[in-house]
Amino acid sequence: MTREVISDELESIEKASIDELRAVQLERMQKSLHHAYENSPHYRKAFDAHGVHPSDLKQLSDLSKFPFTTKQDLRENYPFGMFATPMDDIVRVHASSGTTGQPTVVGYTQNDIDTWANVVARSIRAAGGRRKDMVHVAYGYGLFTGGLGAHYGAERLGCTVIPMSGGQTEKQVQLIKDFNPNIIMVTPSYMLNIADEMERQGIDPHTLNLRLGIFGAEPWTGSMREELEQRLGIDAIDIYGLSEVMGPGVAMECAETKDGPTIWEDHFYPEIINPETGEVLPDGEEGELVFTSLSKEALPIIRYRTRDLTRLLPGTARTMRRMDRITGRSDDMLIIRGVNVFPTQIEEQIIGTEGLAPHYLIEVDRNGNLDTMSVQVESQNVMADEQKQGLAKELQHHIKSIVGVSTRIEIVEPGSVPRSEGKAKRVIDHRKL
Ligand code: DLL
Repeated sequence: MTREVISDELESIEKASIDELRAVQLERMQKSLHHAYENSPHYRKAFDAHGVHPSDLKQLSDLSKFPFTTKQDLRENYPFGMFATPMDDIVRVHASSGTTGQPTVVGYTQNDIDTWANVVARSIRAAGGRRKDMVHVAYGYGLFTGGLGAHYGAERLGCTVIPMSGGQTEKQVQLIKDFNPNIIMVTPSYMLNIADEMERQGIDPHTLNLRLGIFGAEPWTGSMREELEQRLGIDAIDIYGLSEVMGPGVAMECAETKDGPTIWEDHFYPEIINPETGEVLPDGEEGELVFTSLSKEALPIIRYRTRDLTRLLPGTARTMRRMDRITGRSDDMLIIRGVNVFPTQIEEQIIGTEGLAPHYLIEVDRNGNLDTMSVQVESQNVMADEQKQGLAKELQHHIKSIVGVSTRIEIVEPGSVPRSEGKAKRVIDHRKL
């Protein structure tokens, strides 16, 4: 693969017809399955046990005959056992910490790094970024794929990169003020934190040069988009990815439609499955997102179960399909007295309640046989107890009538909910501790 610098024009595959795209996918999928089977003992064993061979894939839908790959498979092959190329050809590793157990480790050849840089460059361009732009990267650098993934992509597009990483919030604001970047790449929750710091320093974000925020790595809602856009005077665009499949840039929302991330289907083939039965569901139906890599060398990933819940939608700005905004991960879904609740549903109600700030923490517990849920949320300004009680009642009512669960709401002073510097931790589930 050539190390082309991506220009401001669309790549030809972004303009290809569906038939052309499907043909590229089929050819690459056949190659990827062969590569996995021939070079990774894990896949050989898994395919054999399942009674399938790469040559069984005659059309894209035959993929459903192949076994899934899970985080558990990566853990069992910790650290490098899933790699399908010799260690000599691996130029980088990343790892995701995970909340429990071993980290999952992923590896990249030089070609993989190039593909990744190209899809992130393509993503930044789809969001409205151009060569002349200056990009402030506040995703964490290190084992997490966010910082370096964004960095290589922005460079590949020809932008000027400020490799700030996460943390040091005061300094973030100082550099944004002094260097005047046009684009910021950061988690939406940390962006809120940075916006608060701007306010504290008496800086009106509307006077800055920032015009575009590329936000991802955690679920966020349409209401959060409005909040960020209004507060900062920018376009807020959704970027999706996960380390097992590549990192950021697996899918990217296009600026002209802002209707959910377009999946870069020439490199990552999506399926939606019923998470209980594993059955493939038709486009448009909600289920668990599954990815098969079509061009990866070091770590080909076949039918990886992401645990992310969404649905596949037809292409709009591109021929490639889109994914709907992620409601949450199946692991994040809370079951409160039998009702399924995602933290994002609570977030939506908080943002919709005037006087509240989008800083919150959900705590779940069990009292005898009954699940209880309480939400700590900050008021926008310091206020009297009576006013707080009024707001608490209002939010409680919205959550009960729209989400369907009873909650205990506590309105707390501005600044008292712990702030995120990366992926926000929104839930403490005492039932699991
Ligand atoms: O979070 C990669 C990334 C970095 C994406 C920077 C975007 C920007 P992991 O740490 O492996 O990789 O976590 C992947 O994060 O399965 C989703 O559950 C969640 N996630 C990522 N992007 C989004 C998004 C990176 N735009 C996991 N919306 C994924 C909702 C997201 N959830």
